[in-house]
Amino acid sequence: MPPPDDFTVTPYEVKGRIDYARLRELFGTQEVTDELRTRLRRLAGGELHPLIARGTYYSHRDLVALLDRYERGHPFFLYSGRGPSGPLHVSHLAAFDLCRWFQERLHVPMYIQITDDEKFWARAGLTREETVRWGMENLYDILAVGFDPARTRVFFDSKSIGALYPLAIRVARKIPYSTVKAVFGFEASQNIGLVFYTALQTVPCFWPSWAEGKEVPCLIPCGIDQDPHFRVTRDIAEGLGYPKPALLHSQMIPGLLGDQAMSTTGAAADNALFLNDPPKVVERKVKNAFTGGRATVEEQRRLGANPDICSVFALWKTRFAESDARLAEVERDCRSGALLCGECKQSILERIHPFYDTHAVAREKAKEWAESAIVTAAPKPI
Ligand code: TRP
Repeated sequence: MPPPDDFTVTPYEVKGRIDYARLRELFGTQEVTDELRTRLRRLAGGELHPLIARGTYYSHRDLVALLDRYERGHPFFLYSGRGPSGPLHVSHLAAFDLCRWFQERLHVPMYIQITDDEKFWARAGLTREETVRWGMENLYDILAVGFDPARTRVFFDSKSIGALYPLAIRVARKIPYSTVKAVFGFEASQNIGLVFYTALQTVPCFWPSWAEGKEVPCLIPCGIDQDPHFRVTRDIAEGLGYPKPALLHSQMIPGLLGDQAMSTTGAAADNALFLNDPPKVVERKVKNAFTGGRATVEEQRRLGANPDICSVFALWKTRFAESDARLAEVERDCRSGALLCGECKQSILERIHPFYDTHAVAREKAKEWAESAIVTAAPKPI
């Protein structure tokens, strides 16, 4: 008998050392193959987003079918979201950065959901004022990755509820309590907000089809922990007359303290680079970050270090290596012992600081149009 799996991945809990190939098997998703990568590169005009090229986005559902339709002239839209429980960190931008790339390359619309309701229900310590405030703050950061204002709309749950609710009513009637209980594993003491909430996360998948009165397929780039929500969505889609959303899943980006997933609650604030961290704090966090280095310089020169478990290498891989060649060089020099952790951290900091500066400017510009991107009216009553 194979050993039991000693990790958990759900939208409300990620723990253990995740075996990603096994997780794909458990979830029953498809692999992002070289063939799919080649096809995406061609469709995008010759370049591939590093998060796909380097394997962070590694799993999907029905992406091939969505691209088949797209190539037959059938446009799709993008959808992703954020539960605003606090400030965003650098790695939270991954899904949005990928969406921005798809939007830029394929000129497709983007819908962003900000779930201030979900986080209020999921986190006992948060007030309504906080989730709304973080919702707006997070939205500025998300829009700052470079979305096209003409093609980008936001569902901010508590502000957009009038637009979402007519469809949420229909969606909720299709989801039995037994499904929610089985999929999310809620305890009997769970507040009923989250029991209903999955209906709201589904609505954006169908919203453009509903608004336009014709099938508009949906592609959701997201962390694989969000897949359970969309299994529910996919099960009910056809019964409501809408296409099943396609998904593109990423691995969870490891935290700076060497955890598997980037939990940042409580004392773990040092586990991530928050977008509102001042330069000194960024520097301290990077300098204290967990690496795959050896106990002494002598040992590291002799035996090399291990990038596979290193949180700094994960930063290079997911954002800061400007080319695949640069990433390969960091990896090679790390394994050989030519590159020491201190030097490596210094050189990534030289990229992180300018990224923060550019982001801060883009964020100010995003504030100018954030409010007007929020959808407040339903396309039609039902
Ligand atoms: N539930 C997500 C979170 O906790 C937020 C979210 C809403 C989302 N809609 C989404 C994430 C669509 C990915 C895709 O952060």
